[in-house]
Amino acid sequence: MIQITFFENGQGQIIQGKVGQSLMQAAAAADIEGIAADCGGTLTCATCHVMVRDAWLDKMPALSDDEDGMLDFAASARQPNSRLSCQIKLTEAMNGLEVDLPASQY
Ligand code: FES
Repeated sequence: MIQITFFENGQGQIIQGKVGQSLMQAAAAADIEGIAADCGGTLTCATCHVMVRDAWLDKMPALSDDEDGMLDFAASARQPNSRLSCQIKLTEAMNGLEVDLPASQY
């Protein structure tokens, strides 16, 4: 299992994910309210926005052009470490991952 901490307003919530699952799917399975994921992972909503903490950035998959474009539609201002969680497939190397939730997904 992969341990992930979602931070919202400084409060961390630890959940477990599975290798091969997307970060969004792990969040949905754990009822993380700050991840809306309206499109179900088809990269058309930008409501699965997260900010990946610096220590984990080099473990992230490359940003695709489609994800890059969709991030511009995120409701909360895009940050240099912004990603769409449906595009992050969990790997063993991500065990301990820490991400921040944006102020809003809408
Ligand atoms: Fe819609 Fe990620 S769930 S873009």
